[in-house]
Amino acid sequence: MTQDEMKKKVAEAALEYVKSGSIVGVGTGSTANMFIDALATRKDDILGAVASSEATAERLRGHGIPVLDLNEALSKVDSLSVYVDGADEFDAGKNLTKGGGGALTREKIVAAASDSFVCIVDASKRVEYLGAFPLPVEVIPMARELVTDVLRRIGGNPVLREGFITDNGNIIIDVHDLKITDARALEDELNSVPGVVTNGVFSHQGADVVLMGTADGVQTIGN
Ligand code: 5RP
Repeated sequence: MTQDEMKKKVAEAALEYVKSGSIVGVGTGSTANMFIDALATRKDDILGAVASSEATAERLRGHGIPVLDLNEALSKVDSLSVYVDGADEFDAGKNLTKGGGGALTREKIVAAASDSFVCIVDASKRVEYLGAFPLPVEVIPMARELVTDVLRRIGGNPVLREGFITDNGNIIIDVHDLKITDARALEDELNSVPGVVTNGVFSHQGADVVLMGTADGVQTIGN
């Protein structure tokens, strides 16, 4: 099975977690795009979707799936029933790194507003330690040098993502050469640096279920 076929399988498997009549949180990236395509088959069965990026909103609308602003959605329901998204890496504790597509802040917000997070990945995303994939940090532009210095001091090799501005108008610094042994502690430490909007460690908002595409089919990790 190719990587794309694995992504399609997990995207389709995630439909099982979509409740009729609910509002669904939708992630960003190539795997999330496949989920959006699958969700289109259920578009008359859900109230709508909250998008984690402008790109996702556009793809949802292209399929005729109603897109709600998160505030509007939370005025109709107490929480979103499920958030479905990919990841750059996941570990045995279902901690994730995300933000390869630069949508980490809205992804974390929508995940936090959802009852559960179903993470859809191919098998290449499983790691022993997070951090081999450069960790994205969204930063307010005026704090670029301040945050870069701190990232160097914690042992990383920060690289500005050239020519990229997030949907929130900020920059991304990708931190190379990290070996993350305590995801929760690093997530908290980075979030305490003035100028950091969000970092790509998803430990507080880790996955409840990981659907991993393998050559033998979809493996479910979690409940
Ligand atoms: C975007 C993300 C994506 O979920 C992550 O980059 C994985 O993407 P893909 O499904 O294309 O491998 O965090 O900000």
